[in-house]
Amino acid sequence: MSKTRIKYICSNCGHESLRWLGRCPSCESWDSFTEELIEERKSGKKKFSGETHITPLNSIVEEHEERIKTNINEFDRVLGGGLMPGSVVLIGGDPGIGKSTLVMQAASKISENVLYVTGEESVNQINLRAKRLKVRSETISVMTETDLDMILNAIEKHAPNVVIVDSIQTTYKSNFENAPGTITQIRECTSELMQLAKKKHCAIIIVGHVTKEGIIAGPKVLEHIVDTVLQFEGERSHSYRILRAQKNRFGSTNELGIFEMLEDGLHEVKNPSEIFLSEREKEISGSVVTSSMEGTRPILLEVQALVTPSAYGNPQRVATGFDYRRLSILLAVLEKRANLRLSAQNVFLNMAGGLRIEEPAVDLAVCCAIASNFGDKLARNDTVVIGEVGLGGEVRSVGNIDKRIQEAEKLGFKKVIIPSNNFKSIKNTTAIKIIPVENLLTAIKEILD
Ligand code: TYD
Ligand code: MG
Repeated sequence: MSKTRIKYICSNCGHESLRWLGRCPSCESWDSFTEELIEERKSGKKKFSGETHITPLNSIVEEHEERIKTNINEFDRVLGGGLMPGSVVLIGGDPGIGKSTLVMQAASKISENVLYVTGEESVNQINLRAKRLKVRSETISVMTETDLDMILNAIEKHAPNVVIVDSIQTTYKSNFENAPGTITQIRECTSELMQLAKKKHCAIIIVGHVTKEGIIAGPKVLEHIVDTVLQFEGERSHSYRILRAQKNRFGSTNELGIFEMLEDGLHEVKNPSEIFLSEREKEISGSVVTSSMEGTRPILLEVQALVTPSAYGNPQRVATGFDYRRLSILLAVLEKRANLRLSAQNVFLNMAGGLRIEEPAVDLAVCCAIASNFGDKLARNDTVVIGEVGLGGEVRSVGNIDKRIQEAEKLGFKKVIIPSNNFKSIKNTTAIKIIPVENLLTAIKEILD
């Protein structure tokens, strides 16, 4: 016997409560509780039957899994080498960012049988997109369906190697009364898909929308269930799109795939640095080139700063693609250690190209860009600036210095400013001039020289 009762579930983190709450005690988000019907199965006492199996770890025979390649390099790398049969990958992103385009392109390049299930578009719309993307493939079958049982049936019957479910928010199980897209539905559908993936040994890609806070709806609940969570992001106004791994049972989470969205679909970006520097205006103050490791690749990008006097007592600080709090700290360090009177100035900071940088190795470039615009002095445009800045104004060492320097050299830069502690460990570099610095002030002097 089962009975239903109402529970309130936080749509952000999945926290359950018996009454409605204004603020979630677990993730602290406001107004996130929604009413959901929960079916409770009477547990009763389960009779123990049969034997349980335990296996000594060293007696397990290793299986060498052949990954299913999507044959899109950037995609395969983020996946850790391709799709793992029997696993579930969740791709999240804002509506309209290009998730359906990405999975359709991947589907067309996968050499095995693919079933594309969509609850968002009609077969006709899919066909139009396929035409636009010039997809011609005999191995893709399309199904418009939102009822999970029908989808599971189709997978059982046709046994595809790869299944794409676009999107999890439109999929529902008919024996639950909750609307599609609610936490209960999403969780149930995902775990059933997960079980089937294991049973049929096929790879399943699930597409999910992101809530306005920038997280996949029901993230905590889903993250635990699926094997891999990828985030597809980018500014809608830019043509660049970035695929990032947030969780990956079968690969590194550091990898990053970069694409450009054009008329005929997504194109892989092989030389990201060239792209991110392509629109650089060399003769303006406040622009400094730095290097950020994205996964195993160094990417050169431009940091732009604009400093203007604040008309009102309360100066604005706006950071795009950079952590706002980190900017506040760096401004305080500049004020105290480099004697720049920034407290009455508005400061706007931008990582050009729509990238979001979380690495502290760009600190020094941020400081140099601000100093350059504040003093209205051009920063040397043939120089790359690398280094983390400490609260004492000291420049701290960063990882992967050789790779970063090589990339700078490859793109024709003449000099690179690096932390002096990194200087000792550098292996041979030829043409590029390396300037080791110990503190912020020296770096600013060098770059504004
Ligand atoms: P889509 O893949 O439908 O996004 P999502 O599934 O994440 O909601 O792509 C949506 C946008 O991409 C749409 O605004 C049009 C644009 N687009 C292109 O620029 N080029 C193309 O070749 C395609 C198919 C779409
Ligand atoms: Mg879509």
